[in-house]
Amino acid sequence: EKQGYEHFMLKEINEQPESLKWLLQDRLQAGKLDLSESGLKSDWLSDYDKIHVVACGTAYHSGYLAKYLLEDMLKLPVEVEVASEYRYRNPLVNDKTLMIVVSQSGETADTLAALRLAKSKGADVLALVNGRDSSIARESDMVLYLNAGLEIAVASTKAYTNMVAAFYMLAVDGMRQRADIDAETVKKYTNDLIRLPELSRQMIKQSEEKIKEIARSYAEQKHIFFIGRNTDYTLALEGALKLKEISYIHAEAYPAGELKHGTLALVEEGVPVVALGSRTDIFNKLFSNLKEVKARGADTFLITMEGQNYEKESVDHVFELPQLNQYFAGLLAIIPLQLLAYYTALVCGKDIDQPRNLAKSVTVE
Ligand code: F6R
Repeated sequence: EKQGYEHFMLKEINEQPESLKWLLQDRLQAGKLDLSESGLKSDWLSDYDKIHVVACGTAYHSGYLAKYLLEDMLKLPVEVEVASEYRYRNPLVNDKTLMIVVSQSGETADTLAALRLAKSKGADVLALVNGRDSSIARESDMVLYLNAGLEIAVASTKAYTNMVAAFYMLAVDGMRQRADIDAETVKKYTNDLIRLPELSRQMIKQSEEKIKEIARSYAEQKHIFFIGRNTDYTLALEGALKLKEISYIHAEAYPAGELKHGTLALVEEGVPVVALGSRTDIFNKLFSNLKEVKARGADTFLITMEGQNYEKESVDHVFELPQLNQYFAGLLAIIPLQLLAYYTALVCGKDIDQPRNLAKSVTVE
């Protein structure tokens, strides 16, 4: 049931504070993370020398974010790849490989095939999956259920944020096992995890009106670009996918520094560019790319951390994120992008919950 919302997608966007709670509540005991229910040992980190993350679509975008996150926080090499590519090469996998597959439905054919391939080569498989009793859940060695509840809209929202939050939990759990990280740091990240449901609620509330206004002008555009660096690049990918799949407007994500190697040729007067700037460490680099597109007449929309300094005259629209560590702030930055996709498609008059040519569960390759 839509519970008064016009579309399932909007209902599911609004459910994110709740669904994040459902994910976190059973795994947080007295302020400490406990992932043992998934089958992960309390000292799993030392069993592996690399991680492969494999998924499709939006789930792949959560994995791409996790590559940056896990490599930095766990100091293990992490490869991420779409399942349809992974399954048709010969990935280097052995019994020291942790294979993480990510799927809302748990039935995606390519992801399942990639899981089987890695397993046959000796990897331990951990599934981050929403669908209970799904094929992916059944065939994996370990399962961390996303607990996002039923997701009906074809465009994934609450499952994605729970995938990202599940990777945050994994990162914090892994950090706890590192001898060179103190308990204080682990505590700080755990506390940030606990704040996510409430902060996401604030984000939805604060962004809706502003986003509706931006959506009215975006609905008339032919091309929209999303740029970012590091984890912000992966959010750009997800923002662009969401927008294109339900509004049918051509949306493209680029690593901000790659623009001038080709795509900048398409930026002209009035073309919208959404710049993801939640990374404080490389904000200045991102901002210099934003100025480059502004100089060519782009209509710029910046999403950045509260308190960040920048030249206001280069920015047409801005949305500020509450202070949080720069990895976890990413989960909040996606919310205005989901709303942007939704309201743009609404102005365009598209069939939001059932976009043409797409299915909720892709059980054929
Ligand atoms: C986009 C979307 C798809 C899915 C992809 C994988 O909004 O929902 O890109 O993410 O088809 O599906 P699952 O997660 O069920 O494996």
